[in-house]
Amino acid sequence: MPRIIVYTLLILTLLAILPPVVIAQVRSKPNPNLPINLIQDMDLQAKFKAQSMNDLFSDGRSQRVQVAGTIARGEAALDTHFNQGVVDGQWASSFPERLPANMELMKRGEGRFNIYCSPCHGYSGGGNGAVNQRALELVANADGPVNGTVWVAAKSLHDATITIQPVGQLFNTVTYGIRNMAGYQSQIPVEDRWAIVAYVKALQRSQDAALNDVPTDKRGGL
Ligand code: HEC
Repeated sequence: MPRIIVYTLLILTLLAILPPVVIAQVRSKPNPNLPINLIQDMDLQAKFKAQSMNDLFSDGRSQRVQVAGTIARGEAALDTHFNQGVVDGQWASSFPERLPANMELMKRGEGRFNIYCSPCHGYSGGGNGAVNQRALELVANADGPVNGTVWVAAKSLHDATITIQPVGQLFNTVTYGIRNMAGYQSQIPVEDRWAIVAYVKALQRSQDAALNDVPTDKRGGL
């Protein structure tokens, strides 16, 4: 190989090492200067840093205590009673404080139940909704699994294993689903899920009432 090429290659190799070496050397020690910031975005802005002084307030602190009656963004999700139906690791036996169970909630629940739950569980909650009836028909007329699957009937909400459930557990089932039933977290807002629970409780009561539960003048002479 001609010497000139060898030397050129050697010089080029040495030159190529230079930039990384310079960069490494500069980066190795702290530099008090701000970096060159061509596009500012919000990198440099007026702000008070944690633990710094602020003359605006009489106590001179820039960090302020939380304003009474407010919550931090996202903190509402920490209310497990409202969001999961769980209080101290147990199923909640009451409605969330901010959502009193009254007639208005019940009416809302009736509407939502009829839309979202009755197709499978039936209007009265007995488990005989239209979807269930159609599925039973398909299964009865087939000689094996339909579309490779079998039908798991929606449960009767008057089943003794369900009537004893606390409201929190029902809310949890509606929210996250259970076994073969899907959850309704994404379709039904939290308040409406509680409304449905109120209505389910009323439905259960309607099928399991004693004579004493009926006002005397409505007993038809019984
Ligand atoms: C697509 C049909 C379908 C819809 C719609 C549906 N469910 Fe279900 N549900 C089921 C099935 C199926 C089961 C039984 C699941 C199993 O046992 O695998 C069930 C079970 C339940 C149970 C019993 C849980 C337990 O502890 O055993 C409750 C309570 C319940 N559903 C409430 C509701 C409510 C309230 C709604 C309306 C928001 C609803 N379901 C909508 C199909 C449905």
